Amino acid sequence: GTTFDFAVIPGDGIGPEVIAEARRILQAVLDSASVEATWTEYSLGASHWKDTGETLSEETLERLRGHDAILFGAVGADPQDTRVPSGLIERELLLKLRFSLDHSINLRPARTYPGTATPLAGDPEIDFVVVREGTEGPYVGNGGTIRRGTAHELATEVSLNTAHGVRRVVADAFARAERRRGRLTLVHKHNVLTHAGDLWRRTVEAAAAEHPAVSWDYMHVDAATIHMVQDPGRFDVIVTDNLFGDILTDLAAAVTGGIGLAASGSINAEGTAPSMFEPVHGSAPDIAGQQIADPTAAVLSGALMLQHLGLTEAASRLEQAVHAQLAAWAEEPEGSRGLSTAQRGEAILSRLG
Ligand code: NAD
Ligand code: IPM
Ligand code: MN
Repeated sequence: GTTFDFAVIPGDGIGPEVIAEARRILQAVLDSASVEATWTEYSLGASHWKDTGETLSEETLERLRGHDAILFGAVGADPQDTRVPSGLIERELLLKLRFSLDHSINLRPARTYPGTATPLAGDPEIDFVVVREGTEGPYVGNGGTIRRGTAHELATEVSLNTAHGVRRVVADAFARAERRRGRLTLVHKHNVLTHAGDLWRRTVEAAAAEHPAVSWDYMHVDAATIHMVQDPGRFDVIVTDNLFGDILTDLAAAVTGGIGLAASGSINAEGTAPSMFEPVHGSAPDIAGQQIADPTAAVLSGALMLQHLGLTEAASRLEQAVHAQLAAWAEEPEGSRGLSTAQRGEAILSRLG
């Protein structure tokens, strides 16, 4: 049969802790499905940079291109470690990967699971997906600064939006809405960001004409945060730009039960390079090294990876195991409180049967 060739980038902080669990659980799922897999670990991140001065070399990037998919933990140096310039690893490793591998669709499902508690009144059931643009927006426009450090300093950041980039993410979102509950919400801020907002709105209007089965609405991003807290059940598919999507998906994680559960996929829509699967959370320096991080987001990101590669049965088996374990914890007075990262992984593993 086919052998899947995975790259793993555990990264910094809790990245290696959660990826260790995701990897052994994925291995178990693949074994029981008789799917052959090879794993190549790349030790990239803050310590690699400190050792070598390298964030991501062209040569490593080329090697990464050869894999079927990439499982990514998290990067970001401990802010106490002042040797590492703020954001360097994030921009020159994580974002460089997303941009170089053309990860146009940043897919971030937000859902509650049977038994998981939300911070919201009445514990509503939530099930939506944020389709975040992944290669453009304020993340890539050239900014600049002049007269730095003076009272007359001027600093700019530019949001770059192309018709091509907006069209492909909007097309993906409509297709997804068609396969789901047929509802799409465009989130932007076109009352203020008139140029980019107008491009997004026209693009959605044009796509809507081709997808009559999907009903859509528009929401300003500030109002979207209200509705996400007060009535999250109204959302099915949210399509939005890179920065709004970043912010909204931390909120989406918080309202659906916590950042420790939120998975994502950075998808190359055209299949020209491997897609990458990563928890929404970061390196969490505040809890790193303590073996207390929740590995569930990394595990569920692994399920998205299997799904993406067409290993549908293995993916749903893995998801079922996670759901069953979350439900089991909900039945226990202490839940998963006090369990180590490895114990949580072990518990999920045991649900695979
Ligand atoms: P963060 O997501 O790392 O942490 C935010 C809060 O959530 C912290 O209190 C943390 O302890 C908690 N948390 C995160 N993941 C958790 C888990 N699995 N289980 C339990 N609690 C968890 O965000 P931050 O503090 O803003 O960023 C820390 C560093 O990570 C920064 O350097 C940032 O740039 C980077 N970052 C990286 C990624 C990524 O690699 N994909 C994503 C976000 C932030
Ligand atoms: C995320 C992170 C990244 C982003 C950072 C670390 C560059 O916050 O994956 O959500 O902004 O996309
Ligand atoms: Mn983020």
